[in-house]
Amino acid sequence: MVRKNRFAFFNGKIVPIEDAKVGIMTSAFNYGTGIFEGIRGYWNGEEEQLYVFRLREHFERFLRNCRVLLIELPYTVEELCEATLELLQREGFRTDVYIRPLAYKSGEEIGVRLHDLESQCTIFALPFGEYDKPGGARVMISSWRRMDDNAIPPRSKIIGAYVNSALAKTEAHLHGFDDALMLCQDGHVSEGSAANLFIVRDGTLITPPVTQEILEGITRATILQLAEDLGIETLERPIDRSELYVADEAFLCGTAVGLVPIIEVDHRQVGDGAPGPISTQLKKLYQAVVRGKELRYRRWCTPVYRAAVPSGTIP
Ligand SMILES: Cc1ncc(COP(=O)(O)O)c(C=O)c1O
Repeated sequence: MVRKNRFAFFNGKIVPIEDAKVGIMTSAFNYGTGIFEGIRGYWNGEEEQLYVFRLREHFERFLRNCRVLLIELPYTVEELCEATLELLQREGFRTDVYIRPLAYKSGEEIGVRLHDLESQCTIFALPFGEYDKPGGARVMISSWRRMDDNAIPPRSKIIGAYVNSALAKTEAHLHGFDDALMLCQDGHVSEGSAANLFIVRDGTLITPPVTQEILEGITRATILQLAEDLGIETLERPIDRSELYVADEAFLCGTAVGLVPIIEVDHRQVGDGAPGPISTQLKKLYQAVVRGKELRYRRWCTPVYRAAVPSGTIP
């Protein structure tokens, strides 16, 4: 049986999960005024080691995003990384995990605002296996538009903004699809409900630019780097809806889902209706990289257990 999580980082220390509670008057609970992150740890059985993928980059984004909601945390990126590693060590996980940091307006007052309210930060982690969509995902274009940067900035991973994603995801689910793709206010394709989008046209890997109402995904940046290193041409430019129907390949990518080939959009087959060669090659490499199995990218993998790895196995 998979063991549940027992601890949380809460108000500056690691406490039993039952003690990490917020009151019903908390501003963030009433108004969605918080920032969150999603980070993954991958168990490497051969090395008996848990590797956290791009830990630092996630907390850099977290603290940058806090600026948007005027959340001031008394922690540096290094301190948040350390707190996460300590939490994982206390949990003692020997499995893949998902880590959820939250920074939120913790003041217990009625009144929608960002100013003159205290902020808090919490982190919890739980066992989380690989998201698997064997054969690829079938998606639809959502009738819900991605919210505009001048309404709720999608790049900031604001808690309340995820109502937009939830509406799209559930609409897709109720229509029998695996996920939704969302259009920006200008009609170009933005991203999935919780993942960035890539398409392949004539051997070029294309993804919408960061100004197209997307989360500036860490997996997206990773895929762009891996593709470049594999000699695959990459391009960041707006994508039309109908390009999805004529693309050779398409895939979603994100921390939670990894890389998921899209085989159908709006009942139109993508390519020949099976994961294409570029998606398959990148997915295989990504899965090895996150587990610390590609020495070239080992700098992205932070080991949790300092003493567990047999000596001589790490370069
Ligand atoms: C809306 C949205 N887009 C993209 C992503 C992928 O981002 P990342 O690769 O940093 O997890 C996420 C995942 O958290 C997301 O919520």
